[in-house]
Amino acid sequence: MTEVPPNLSGIKLIVIDNPPVNSLGLEVRRMLTREFASAEEDPAVKAVVLAGAGGKFSAGADIREFTDAKAVSQLYLGEVIDKIESLSKPVVAAVDGVALGGGLELALGCHFRVAGRTARVALPEITLGVLPGAGGTQRLPRAIEFAMAIEMATGGQMIGAGDKRLQGLFDEITEGDPRRAAILFAAKIIADGIGPRRLSEKAIPAEPAEAALQAARERLLPNPVPAMAAVLECLDDAIHRDFRTGLANERTRFGQVVGTPEARALQHAFFAEREVSKVPGITPETPVLPVEAIAVIGAGTMGRGISIAALDAGFAVTLVDVEAAALERALGAIESHYRTMVERKRLSEADADERRKRLTGSVDLSAAAREADLVIEAVFEDLKVKQEVLAKLDAAAGPNTILATNTSTLDVDALAVATSRPGQVVGMHFFSPANIMRLVEVVRGRATSDSTLATALKVVSRLRKVGVVAGVCDGFIGNRMLEEYLRQAYFLLDEGALPHEVDGALERWGMAMGPLRMMDLAGNDIGWAIRKRRKVEQPDRPYSAIPDLICERGRFGQKTGAGFYRYDGRKAIPDPEVDALVAEHSASLGFKRREIDAEEIVQRCIYALVNEGASVLADGIALRASDIDVVYLAGYGFPRYRGGPMHYANEVGLGRVVAAMQRFQQGYQGKFWEPSPLLAELARSGGRFK
Ligand code: 3HC
Repeated sequence: MTEVPPNLSGIKLIVIDNPPVNSLGLEVRRMLTREFASAEEDPAVKAVVLAGAGGKFSAGADIREFTDAKAVSQLYLGEVIDKIESLSKPVVAAVDGVALGGGLELALGCHFRVAGRTARVALPEITLGVLPGAGGTQRLPRAIEFAMAIEMATGGQMIGAGDKRLQGLFDEITEGDPRRAAILFAAKIIADGIGPRRLSEKAIPAEPAEAALQAARERLLPNPVPAMAAVLECLDDAIHRDFRTGLANERTRFGQVVGTPEARALQHAFFAEREVSKVPGITPETPVLPVEAIAVIGAGTMGRGISIAALDAGFAVTLVDVEAAALERALGAIESHYRTMVERKRLSEADADERRKRLTGSVDLSAAAREADLVIEAVFEDLKVKQEVLAKLDAAAGPNTILATNTSTLDVDALAVATSRPGQVVGMHFFSPANIMRLVEVVRGRATSDSTLATALKVVSRLRKVGVVAGVCDGFIGNRMLEEYLRQAYFLLDEGALPHEVDGALERWGMAMGPLRMMDLAGNDIGWAIRKRRKVEQPDRPYSAIPDLICERGRFGQKTGAGFYRYDGRKAIPDPEVDALVAEHSASLGFKRREIDAEEIVQRCIYALVNEGASVLADGIALRASDIDVVYLAGYGFPRYRGGPMHYANEVGLGRVVAAMQRFQQGYQGKFWEPSPLLAELARSGGRFK
């Protein structure tokens, strides 16, 4: 779309209009090529203003094209930008909303840049496993300080246009409409007879760029994402090679990394996180109830974390515990959390005060429920206890109030029937620490109404968390799968591995924390209680006795200073006492302990996740495989560059996954390796999880 602004003849306005985010797909690249060529030829045009429609400059390359090398290279974005930069007439970018990735590179190719105060810019390519491929690594360090260019290209974070670290990027920051300001800017440069000013013609002083780059290399390499080394190499080119050579190498390196498994995984994660909000039955018309006041019942670790998350998101919070002492302790802990935030300068005193003012403590459950739009119960994980609490809340709460349960394993339907409003009961399963972990499983019970579900999802998004809808089953998506993962981790100890070997293999593979360290952090007593319940419910599903033996010795994990490790503060130290216990247990099973390599450890733990994930999918507990991936990425420290368990299995090939499982069937506790019917079928037909 192009216009000539009225009364400002000589300025050609070119507008990128490709909703929703003005990504730079082939059609847009064609439009830009055409319109800039015509601007060059038209003697009436003295300057060009480039803007984006809908309040956004551009969110960059069309990521969907990345799976098709031919599509990317057709009218390659970098070449389009080069042509714009080489125009003989001045070009002004009007940066509104966002200029991300290729969008920022496009603005850098323009000769002048005017931005709105609220605009944000970034080079987020690295978060998608690629590097800026349209001149970003060469032009950005010629516009701003080299160290900041490194930070942006290797970190991908969004920066406000007015941030002083971006000095040099914009010629003008406007409080008003950036397009209008850019047009006025263009009129002025025409009047002043100012011609194009090209970043490609600027030189970069080797000092202090070299030192900043060396520090970045030391901090970021080696890195499991190949794009990281590539982007640092291109930044090095920016210092040492001429602009054209640097640009050519950037394009080559982009082509090399765009097809790597790590890039595919990161792009999968990007789309999976957007897909997750598409839920059958929920449309923009589904009524969402207004929620401002939240009551959190239970002042334990979870209740505290949920309260902080809700306060941080602007809700009024009443934290309830019938035990006054427990409530006092929790309020004290929340206060100390905010004090620390202020001390560490992560929060201003005024903001902390504002949050404190929105927090009330109460020992009166009914009174708190009466005032709340949403109640989240986080009391002891026991069906009877929770049913009683929910019945009390139901009796007191107003007719529209939604009752949410933070249960991690219990039957939400059985909890809902304890109330007179099963349609307004929903699971909201937070992960510990609840103010930090991004995941919330939003559990849709049999009776949960669409409006209740939509409201819960809206609250989760206001909490700046990712809500994944799950159906009702023991453990929902995440913990149901985790059980199989842990089962394998414990069996590996039975057979020959030591805790640090299991954790080490999985951590080197990319898990944020190995399973045994994770259980030590979560508290081994929690798993113990669940296993006791399961032993009654499902006596034929054996567990290794090792975690029980650990618990019997009072080794509940970090909180008791000992678990699968002993602890020096938070530091896990392998403990000979545990090694001896593990060896003794193996001997009692009649095992000659064997050395288990990292590959087997990883395959057994990860394929156990995949196999149960397939059942979760087949049972309709998760809406789609990519939702399972989001659960593991956002809640369990699964490496994003592996895309989540289901994506990873697709990458390995489901046939190969099943073949490995068949091998494991011959070994210890082989009966756990029966492939789920869905996995078996997909492997047979050469299919993939969708
Ligand atoms: N390409 C293709 N689709 C994109 C896209 C892109 N660059 N950016 C967003 N979308 C899609 C989303 O998938 C979503 O699609 P859906 O409605 O079908 O699910 C839709 O646009 C809206 O996106 P969001 O839901 O994320 O909308 P928000 O308003 O919450 O956020 C945003 C907008 C901040 C622009 C966010 O979408 C975003 O961060 N986008 C990615 C930006 C990015 O990483 N750009 C770099 C691309 S790589 C590159 O440019 C390479 C170059 O160097 C050669």
